[in-house]
Amino acid sequence: MDVIALSDPTDAQIEEWQAVAAAVWAHDHPDEPAPEPEQVRARLMVPPMASRNLMWTARDATGRTCGVAYLRLPDDVGRAGEVDVQVLPEARRRGIGTRLLAAAADGLRAGYCKTVIVQALAGTPAVPFLEARGFHCVLSLRGMLLRLDEVDASQVAELVAAGHPDYRLLRWTGTVAEGLAGELAMAKRAMADMSLGDMTAFRWDADRVREMAETVTARGETLYTVAALHGPASAPRIAGFTEVVVSAAAPERASQYDTAVVPEHRGRRLGIWLKAAMLEWLRDERPDVREIETDNADDNSHMLAVNEELGFRRERDYLDFQADTSDLPTTAC
Ligand SMILES: CC(C)(COP(=O)(O)OP(=O)(O)OC[C@H]1O[C@@H](n2cnc3c(N)ncnc32)[C@H](O)[C@@H]1OP(=O)(O)O)[C@@H](O)C(=O)NCCC(=O)NCCS
Repeated sequence: MDVIALSDPTDAQIEEWQAVAAAVWAHDHPDEPAPEPEQVRARLMVPPMASRNLMWTARDATGRTCGVAYLRLPDDVGRAGEVDVQVLPEARRRGIGTRLLAAAADGLRAGYCKTVIVQALAGTPAVPFLEARGFHCVLSLRGMLLRLDEVDASQVAELVAAGHPDYRLLRWTGTVAEGLAGELAMAKRAMADMSLGDMTAFRWDADRVREMAETVTARGETLYTVAALHGPASAPRIAGFTEVVVSAAAPERASQYDTAVVPEHRGRRLGIWLKAAMLEWLRDERPDVREIETDNADDNSHMLAVNEELGFRRERDYLDFQADTSDLPTTAC
């Protein structure tokens, strides 16, 4: 078995990757819609902001691709990298996952990155694999789903109408207006108090906010944002915001991205107001969206309460694992 680094993957290599991803998804996430091939391609070809993508494939003796490893290597080595290893169901327990992880771990160490995170679906082989290979669990998350045809439209309309006299709603698609990029970055920093296990928060600034929106667009996705503004119209401040991303390749299931209310504006039901306004907007603008998925840390009681009031239901549990890259296997031995 050979492990090969893909520096600039060809179409054929991407198709082989897509085939592994589809087989793994069908085996390990049988009741969830698999990512579309275009989504897999976009993930490989468009790195998340402030990061590089590195990739490896494992080939068996017949030349068939039997496993893949993805590494997001952050530009800022103080931030955690992120790894995803996938092995065809019929090729497991033969050390292929370990070999792929070792290649990614060498990439992390060569990039001076000291910490790495992996997300695993609870109850799948990923959990004993990660525990056996140097990772420990740092966070439990609930995967939640809202089916839009089950949403009570009158409840949502009431929530939107209730609002708050000191705030007004603003919504936009894609990149935030120039004058509000710094404000949005400040509001995003409000998420720093969210539970991240041992991980450090991302340092948001106006450039990062724009870069994040551009990355979403480059992946063939649309970013919808609703924000609550306060203060004078000439110099508005953002008190809170919520973001949803809709993929052109799979619009039926949208993804909830960040939601945050700045600490001094909390306790005024701005979070549920923002999310209700987002639901109304998507219903009018994107009737092709049928569901919204999100995940919330188990201990994020406020966000869980907001989501449950809107009708989000727990579907599955995820675990975030973390490791020191010095504890991970190496290809050298
Ligand atoms: C997790 C995954 C990559 C492991 O790949 P693999 O090639 O089977 O892993 P390895 O053969 O290198 O296993 C290494 C060790 O992990 C542990 N392990 C792996 N799978 C296990 C399982 N199903 N049950 C118990 N222990 C397991 C064992 O300690 C194993 O060593 P052993 O076989 O000598 O006992 C594979 O199951 C997979 O593709 N899962 C779906 C994708 C996924 O969830 N990825 C996210 C996590 S990176």
